[in-house]
Amino acid sequence: MAKRKRIGIFTGGGDCPGLNNAIKSIVLGAYKDYEVEGIAKGWEGPIQMVLSKPSARVRTIETYTLPLGEEDVRRIDRAGGTILMSSRANPFNYKGNNISHKVTKFLNNRYHGVIVIGGEDTLGAAGKMAQQGLRVVGVPKTIDKDLCGTEYTLGFDSAVNMIQMLITNLKSTAGSHGMVYFVEAMGRKAGHLTYWGGRSAHVHFMTIPEVVTNYRRLFYLIKKRKKSMPMKRGFTLDGLRYTIALVSEGTKLKGIGEIRKGETDPHGNVYLGGVAAYMCNEYIQITGDKDARSWNLGYQQRSGPPSNKDRLMAEALAQRSLELVRSEDFGRMATIEGNFVGDTPLDVVIGRIRILDAQECFDPDNFQHRISSERIYNEIEVPKK
Ligand code: F6P
Repeated sequence: MAKRKRIGIFTGGGDCPGLNNAIKSIVLGAYKDYEVEGIAKGWEGPIQMVLSKPSARVRTIETYTLPLGEEDVRRIDRAGGTILMSSRANPFNYKGNNISHKVTKFLNNRYHGVIVIGGEDTLGAAGKMAQQGLRVVGVPKTIDKDLCGTEYTLGFDSAVNMIQMLITNLKSTAGSHGMVYFVEAMGRKAGHLTYWGGRSAHVHFMTIPEVVTNYRRLFYLIKKRKKSMPMKRGFTLDGLRYTIALVSEGTKLKGIGEIRKGETDPHGNVYLGGVAAYMCNEYIQITGDKDARSWNLGYQQRSGPPSNKDRLMAEALAQRSLELVRSEDFGRMATIEGNFVGDTPLDVVIGRIRILDAQECFDPDNFQHRISSERIYNEIEVPKK
């Protein structure tokens, strides 16, 4: 019997619900015709295999790869995260070195094709390596939904559901104490998570990275809102007693900019975080109102099982990626456009991001969304700065 061709799969970047579903779907669609191999830890796996000494190569390959068949993936669809593990490693910047050509050569020698499930950084690297001749196809995933060329990225729906649930839960304690809460959502330079999480949880105010936030005005509006709901008979009108401002981690404060943690990842992204705590502190200082708290939703946003939408999108995107491998249409990414599953050159994700079209969908003076009766999504693709 002729030897079966081998395909590799890996997941890179921040994990999210839906990755295991994509892995399962690819394996089930492929294992009868191909030898399917999982590669551990995103680009870190291929990098370690390439950099290992010849004498340790076999052992390193055994460490970083996992044969995948029907039984191996039977139960993985129920959990979030990724059985293949993930990393933010970058073959173009591995400890300051560009080893992308070596990685391309290694992967092309070992695999007929590689399916990479990733966001803008992981797939951006894949796109640049496709230009070097890597036989690769992409599956889009990121809770941030900031990837160009596709209307949907795996993980987004689960994360929005999680944000909605966490904020809905917060409302009972916030309401009981008449508290102002500054809640921080992820999303880097894109406000999709804040916008859709905030809308579905009915928060009172939102701040997004796409526009500069006049935070003093926000504090004024919060105080004004508080004044409009003094204690009186009938105080049990619960909804009026507390305020929730959902702030995106990439919020640009007027005169200050983003609140950064100071480090960058191997793709050059600055780690963000702490803007809710910063704003809460400023709010207390400026207004004198001590009944304010901050809460960073943190990694819980990416945790938990996949939503139904992510389970179903994972299957559609996975099957398209497999078709691309079968037809040897490498250098492309599976996409969702309206009701259609499609594909596009991986080039479209390099150095660009998809953000909210804030002019259309956001009112920066009132820190609220604008409702359109014509369009659901207002998004634009822009260079990544
Ligand atoms: O890209 C997904 C994301 O969750 C961002 O929203 C967030 O800024 C970042 O990852 C956090 O990075 P890390 O997982 O490396 O801490």
